[in-house]
Amino acid sequence: MNPLDLLDKRAFAGKTVFVTGGGSGINLGIARTFAALGAKLAICGRNAERLDGAAIGLRELGAEVLPVVADVRDYQALEQAVQRTADEVGLIDVLVCGAAGNFLSRAENLSSNGFRTVIEIDLIGSFNAARAAFAQLQQTRGSVLFISAGQSYMPHAFQVHAGAAKAGIDQMMSNLALEWGRFGIRVNSIVPGPIDGTEGLARLATPAQHRTLIESIPLRRFGRVEEMGHAAAFLASPLAAYITGARLVCDGGQNLGGSGLMNMAIDTILPAGGAQ
Ligand code: COA
Ligand code: NAP
Repeated sequence: MNPLDLLDKRAFAGKTVFVTGGGSGINLGIARTFAALGAKLAICGRNAERLDGAAIGLRELGAEVLPVVADVRDYQALEQAVQRTADEVGLIDVLVCGAAGNFLSRAENLSSNGFRTVIEIDLIGSFNAARAAFAQLQQTRGSVLFISAGQSYMPHAFQVHAGAAKAGIDQMMSNLALEWGRFGIRVNSIVPGPIDGTEGLARLATPAQHRTLIESIPLRRFGRVEEMGHAAAFLASPLAAYITGARLVCDGGQNLGGSGLMNMAIDTILPAGGAQ
């Protein structure tokens, strides 16, 4: 059974959903879920071809789609993107902040600019999107969804940059939920576990490590992009009307075993480091 059959296919009819990093992976899976539930979409990223390809697939689901090139580190570009969305699609009802960059690096080898780059894309980029969309969300009494990660609350080796960025995102989520509740804006985080077929998983674990990783997950499988979409649809829907400031962990229970597995091979996974 398709879980979406449980929901009204017009549940988000007339609503506009803006997804940063919506051209691929989990964020595209989230966009696809909203499209299947009747929403109009705007997706942003740095690569026009990737966005156009994603838009074709979303239109096949019946959605009106605006692909718009914007680097989330560039506040002016995001302001223009959300304004175009209002003008050409509609005021934003749901903002999904999913754009991110990641790689494995020993902390002692990571350059200051490497650390800054991930903070700027993930954390500052997420703030930029929320700040740029605020005026529209205030009008629609809309909802913000940040895409966090387990690194936010469990240290993972070689992830000092992503951990700091995602922890910042979750704290920002709490602050914005606190401050914007009075405008009727709800703000929550989704915390995906390892999701099959995604760039994020490919960058953090080799195929040879997958079996061990899967055995560490209580539900004994990776998550699916559409399952992150289901979580997003729930949090953005009236079913979650009294939920704000929440972190919804969608990881098959992976966090219950901590991040030990990711850290066991700390001396062997990457070449030995030394301060450079
Ligand atoms: N290990 C260590 N440092 C790295 C690195 C790696 N694998 N990849 C990039 N860096 C460093 C660079 O050396 C540079 O620092 P420097 O100027 O001191 O040399 C800094 O990070 C910025 O790199 P650059 O390639 O200029 O950044 P970018 O803005 O073009 O790209 C990234 C951003 C690095 C995050 C890139 O991997 C990306 O675009 N990722 C998007 C997709 C993705 O990561 N998906 C998974 C999401 S979880
Ligand atoms: P992905 O496909 O690489 O998605 C990242 C998207 O962000 C890409 O579409 C990318 O497009 C865009 N992006 C990157 N830098 C950007 C920038 N500066 N400005 C605008 N857009 C930018 O990776 P994914 O694995 O699906 O990850 C999606 C989200 O889920 C991320 O927030 C990630 O941290 C989170 N997450 C993933 C996993 C997992 O298992 N995959 C687990 C936990 C959390 P362009 O390169 O075209 O700009």
